[in-house]
Amino acid sequence: MNNLLKDKNILIMGVANKWSIAWAIAEQSYRAGAKLSFSYYGEKSLRSLEKLTEGMKDVVFVECDVTKDQDIENTFNMLKERVGVIHGIAHCIAHAKTEELKGKFMDTSRDGYAMAHDISVYSLISISKYAKPLMTEGGSIITLTYYGGEKVIPNYNVMGVAKAALDASVKYLAVDLGKDNIRVNNISAGPIRTLAGKGISHFDQMLKAFEEKSPMGRLVDPAEVGKTALFLFSDLSSGVTGETIHVDCGYNVIGI
Ligand SMILES: NC(=O)c1ccc[n+]([C@@H]2O[C@H](COP(=O)([O-])OP(=O)(O)OC[C@H]3O[C@@H](n4cnc5c(N)ncnc54)[C@H](O)[C@@H]3O)[C@@H](O)[C@H]2O)c1
Repeated sequence: MNNLLKDKNILIMGVANKWSIAWAIAEQSYRAGAKLSFSYYGEKSLRSLEKLTEGMKDVVFVECDVTKDQDIENTFNMLKERVGVIHGIAHCIAHAKTEELKGKFMDTSRDGYAMAHDISVYSLISISKYAKPLMTEGGSIITLTYYGGEKVIPNYNVMGVAKAALDASVKYLAVDLGKDNIRVNNISAGPIRTLAGKGISHFDQMLKAFEEKSPMGRLVDPAEVGKTALFLFSDLSSGVTGETIHVDCGYNVIGI
């Protein structure tokens, strides 16, 4: 797998720290020969990234708060200057207020609903639009979803509804961009202990239930999500678009 992404420029969005799924994707992509750019949100993430990427060659950092159109536009203007062509993007960004990730879904606030969808869903749409002119050699856009967009998961609430919207957006974007040889796909990861995961009330119970019920009887390793991203970025998946691949040790096939 060493040269699978040789000469490919990949943008990784959403590394907060070493536990971020985005970082697992970055590691796999770098090992496969990709040149990496990172967009980050906030100084703390930049400091983590600088540490994590020590020793990596030709890395580009750009600040991007996805709630700001100007930041998204600046990100791609900057990447046009620094790297020219982009071949792949990992969109690993989601956020909801902590108070929305517990209790009843029907208590979701209007602004909490809007915020979760703006950051976790609209961002993918806007990013795809600004990325298109840089994907002149074809491209692969990947986002991360969760089973809570397909079935009801206690406490996941507004984020589940946002993931359902994200899942549908992947299909619409795949149609918009398919003729330009830009593919858009979704990885549905099993629960992984990250900063975002810890924001969900009773997350430890979710992990335990998952471990007990999943056909493989274990949790997902973030590196496994990274390897699936590698497949989706590479030519191995050249005919795959609008798809959701579950990397969840088979959890989604279980009825009871
Ligand atoms: N951890 C899990 O169990 C799990 C399972 C399935 C899917 N996912 C999804 O994976 C993705 C990555 O999450 P993670 O679990 O690695 O957690 P994480 O906290 O490491 O990553 C979330 C990222 O979103 C970024 N972000 C939040 N608001 C932003 C904004 N306004 N602008 C730009 N970036 C912003 C954060 O800075 C952070 O880097 C999310 O979409 C999440 O829903 C996570």
